[in-house]
Amino acid sequence: PTDQSLAGINVVITAGPTQEAIDPVRYISNHSSGKMGFSLANAALSMGANVTVIAGPVNLTLPTTIKRLNVKSAREMHQAALDSLPMTDIFIACAAVADYRAEEVHSEKMKKKADTDSITLTLVKNPDIIADVANASNRPFCVGFAAETNDVEAYALGKLKRKNLDLIAANDVSVGGQGFNSENNALTVFAKDKRFDIGLNNKKEVATQLLKIISQQYEMRS
Ligand code: PMT
Repeated sequence: PTDQSLAGINVVITAGPTQEAIDPVRYISNHSSGKMGFSLANAALSMGANVTVIAGPVNLTLPTTIKRLNVKSAREMHQAALDSLPMTDIFIACAAVADYRAEEVHSEKMKKKADTDSITLTLVKNPDIIADVANASNRPFCVGFAAETNDVEAYALGKLKRKNLDLIAANDVSVGGQGFNSENNALTVFAKDKRFDIGLNNKKEVATQLLKIISQQYEMRS
């Protein structure tokens, strides 16, 4: 029988990219497919959790026993996460959220200008979803991801501390065959004074191993 250590626990997972509109036909986004976050949702479900996925625009389906909230922008994802807070025991931020959005969203399609070769797009900071969840009163157990191309451990530990997280799963996205839009992944998971390595495997297996670590650390939380 599968491990049922998350029976009755409310797990909320953000997954996929966000899309930040520039005009009605253009946006800023990234290569997240949602596969890692959706694999985590399926793994949590099989461990008995009540699972909610806050999904950016992705082409994936979920079992109907998982609650799915579809969003596009970081600000929509932020609102959905805060709205879910009263029913969140464990929050896992797997989404690749755009750090910035266009300051101005044009209501009509921007026209190409004949008289200039360059235009400037001003970007403004988006809210930090997991940091706000982690700093809420009655905060859930918070698990972040860190997608890094260099100095993976140092940046991951910096995010663990700065965002006030319980665990962070560091993803080296400079290595081919893992991370964004890949079938496989490998993670190094850090707590304040602990480290766990999850070797290269398909995202379903990586998700199962990560959820086991999360449920053990959640059990031991102080
Ligand atoms: O979707 P896949 O194709 O399967 O790829 C999986 C993945 C590579 C996207 C995933 O494993 C991953 O690493 N997700 C985090 C990507 C990311 O944007 O990391 P970051 O280091 O920029 O952000 C750090 C943490 O803060 C993350 O938990 C992120 O969700 C969260 N964050 C970031 C910005 C923001 N405004 N709000 C947030 O909550």
